[in-house]
This record gives sequence, structure tokens and C-alpha cells, in this order.
Amino acid sequence: MAEGRTGQGSLWGGRFGAAPAAAMAQLSKSTHFDWALAPYDIRQGTAHANALLRAGLLDEPTHAALTAGLEQVAAEVDSGQLQPAEADEDVHGALERRLIEIVGQDVGGRLRAGRSRNDQVATDLRLLLLDVSNAVTAELVDLCGALLTQAERHHADPAPGFTHLQHAQPVTLGHEIGKHVQPFLRDLSRLRDWQQRTSVSPMGAGALAGNGLGLDPVATAADLGFSRSFENSIDAVVDRDFVAEFLFITAMIGVHLSRLGEEICLWATSEFGWVYLHDEFSTGSSIMPQKKNPDSAELARGKSGRLIGDLVSVLTMLKGLPFAYNRDLQEDKEPVFDAIATLRLVLPAMTGTVATLRFRPEVAGAGTADGHSLATELADWLVRQGMPFRQAHEVSGRAVKAADEAGVQLWEVDLPAVDPALTPRAVEALSVDAALAARGHPGGTAPEAVARQLKQAREALEQYR
Ligand code: ARG
Repeated sequence: MAEGRTGQGSLWGGRFGAAPAAAMAQLSKSTHFDWALAPYDIRQGTAHANALLRAGLLDEPTHAALTAGLEQVAAEVDSGQLQPAEADEDVHGALERRLIEIVGQDVGGRLRAGRSRNDQVATDLRLLLLDVSNAVTAELVDLCGALLTQAERHHADPAPGFTHLQHAQPVTLGHEIGKHVQPFLRDLSRLRDWQQRTSVSPMGAGALAGNGLGLDPVATAADLGFSRSFENSIDAVVDRDFVAEFLFITAMIGVHLSRLGEEICLWATSEFGWVYLHDEFSTGSSIMPQKKNPDSAELARGKSGRLIGDLVSVLTMLKGLPFAYNRDLQEDKEPVFDAIATLRLVLPAMTGTVATLRFRPEVAGAGTADGHSLATELADWLVRQGMPFRQAHEVSGRAVKAADEAGVQLWEVDLPAVDPALTPRAVEALSVDAALAARGHPGGTAPEAVARQLKQAREALEQYR
């Protein structure tokens, strides 16, 4: 067995008499997923070189050589020319190996002073997720834009509103579509809050106890563009709240996408027929030539399970974990990278699906032709005449029963025969337009209230552009 020696992609070795067994090395290795951190690790290395210079631990020429070396490594990562080698334990070891190949041991071996992979990896992951959160924000803004365009088109078209998947009360189609914008606006605000909480630099925390070399964490935080530096060096290296919270947000977005997806599937059924799916965002069947399936919406619904699983993986890994760093923490990365990849596949496809939907307002509107969904209007009319709602509900219910028994619509019932309080004028309450118009309050479904709602959503969206 080979003797343990620092180098060959690992950052330790002096105290070992043997190199890791193959099974140990395989288990330990993380380059197949943490390579995504490489650009951030290099950025952070450059900031750390600056910290060493400020502390008088590097002279100007050595600092310049290190910085130039890091620039070259960055270019090689960027072009794909540099890849992790078989012997590299992780991204940090691989990058140091390459840096030393370029600038030599004496220069390259100085960068690690006062720095541990513990503060390093926590810093890299924050930087990566902060970047990704901007990309997700932009993709969510696009999706909301597509939803708003559809909602605006149909802001005044009546459609049945549902509870328990049964006709409940009439609303407008724009209101139905607009209801999907609000959850995503909340997700955008969650991402923004998260960005503020996550903009904390762990650099300078070392392995756990801080650094003893006079490196100023506050200056490095500023150098890296973080809003602030850590308050407790132990917490700094083990805090993964930012990962769990990010995964909660992606899971929540997934749940919102799943509900939108489910509704698109429902609307596209022959039974509903509220929308036509565009060819570009549907798929066919291998056996039934006529089929056109809403697979983008179904995959959005299905992949939400994966996003929830990623959150649960990380919370489970964190639960009961001793302080400070433990290798368990390496298991934070694959779930969060999976969540990012999943979400960034789904979001553009859902935006395209929504943008290309062709609504059929005449079909949706036909669903309001049944008078039963106006029974609340009849009860409200009686309330306006001074009747207690409990009694009005009962009277209106009897009118519905009379309609069912006679096989007629609610407005065709002999209303005064149901109850003397129902004068012939009560029939005026039994119109979809009246039901919509009565709800002009903020957030209501009257066409002008929906128009205001959509305008406000557009304005809210602007702040995330
Ligand atoms: N690959 C490790 C991780 O992702 C880097 C930190 C290793 N730290 C250590 N003490 N072994 O967490």
C-alpha cells in the first residue's frame, strides 16, 4: 500500500502511513458533483490571497503570481480543459493541485494558510446559490408574465369557480388564471428574503475556531460581495440553514407548479375543454394516433415530488448533527444541485406551455349557464332585504330543490311560491353579470377588480426584473 502523502489531489497526508483504500477513496470522493463549485472556489481563493496580502503574509510578487495562477485555473475550468483527476478527492484538492502545477509548490502552497475546506465549501455554496437564485428569479418572472398576459386577455370572460371540483360560484377566467400568479409572487419575495439572510461570508472562520493569522473576515466578506461576515466561527462552518431554506423555496415553487400543472391537465381534458395545448408543448402516444397529451404539465406535477424529497434529504442529514463540521455535511450538495437542475428544466417549459395555451372562453363560459351556482346570490338578495342569512340560505336551498324537482333553472322557479319573501324582483339577482359586478372590491372577481389585480401584479413583478 502506498504511503500517505499530501498531494495527488488530497490536502492532507503527513500523519498517515498509508493512502486511503480504494473503497474509502470512492466513498470520500465528491468531484463528480462538487466540480460545480469550481468557479466560486477560485473567486474565493482570490479573495483569500488578498486577505493574506493585507495581513503581510504574502509579498506583492507572490500575491501577483498566485492571482495570475488562479486566473489561469479559472480559464481552464471555464473552457472545460481542466477536469478533476481520478486521484482528486474534491474540487478544493483538484484546484490546488492544478494551481501548484502552474505556479509551483512555494507559491501555490501558501494559499491555504488560515483557511479550511470547512469555511471554503460553505462560502462556495453560498456564492453559487446566490447566483442561482437570480436565475430562478428571472425564470419565475417570465412565468408570471406569461400567466398575466393570458389573464389580461380573459379578465372579463365568465367561468365557473370551483370548490370540491364542483361548480361553486361564477368568477372570471382572468381571476382563475390570476390566482396562479400570487403564489409565484410570494416565492419571488421568499427568494429575496433568503438572499438577504444568505449574504453572510464564512471566510476567516477556518476549520471552526477562526484564524490565528490576523486575517480580517469583514474585509474578505466585502471583497466577495457579501453583505456581512459571520458572528460565530463555529456556526459559520456548519450553518446550512441557507441550503434547507433554499430547498424549501424550490419545493414550494414545485408545489405551486404542480397545482398549475394539474389545472392545465384538467382544463385540457375533453370533458372540460377550456384550453387547447400548443403542439410544441404536448406529446403524442406511441399507439393511439389521435392523442395529444399535456406532458409538460404532468412532469411539472410529477417533479414536485423530487423537489420535496431534496428538502427532506437535507433536513434529515442536519437533524442531530454534532458540532462543528462533520463529513455528513458533504451530503448537502447533491440534493440542492438536483433541485436546481429540476426546477430549471421545469420553469421554462411551463412558461412556454402557459404562453402558448389557447383558452376557449366560450366553453368555459358555458359552464356558468347552470343557475345553481347563483343560489348564493339569491340568499344574499334576501339578506339585503333584511332576512338573517341562516334563514335566507334555507329559502334559497328550497328554491334549488324546486328547480331540481321541476327540471328547470333557478330563475324559472315560481319564487314567491317557495317563500313570500322572494318577490318577483328577486330574479334580478340571478344573473352571472350581476354576481360578478357585485364583487368589485379589492381582490374580487368583478372584471374591473380583476383588471386592477392584474395591473398590481404586473407592478409587483417589475421590482424583480
Ligand atoms: N467535500 C467536503 C464537503 O463537501 C469539503 C469539506 C471537507 N472538510 C473536511 N473536514 N473533510 O463538505
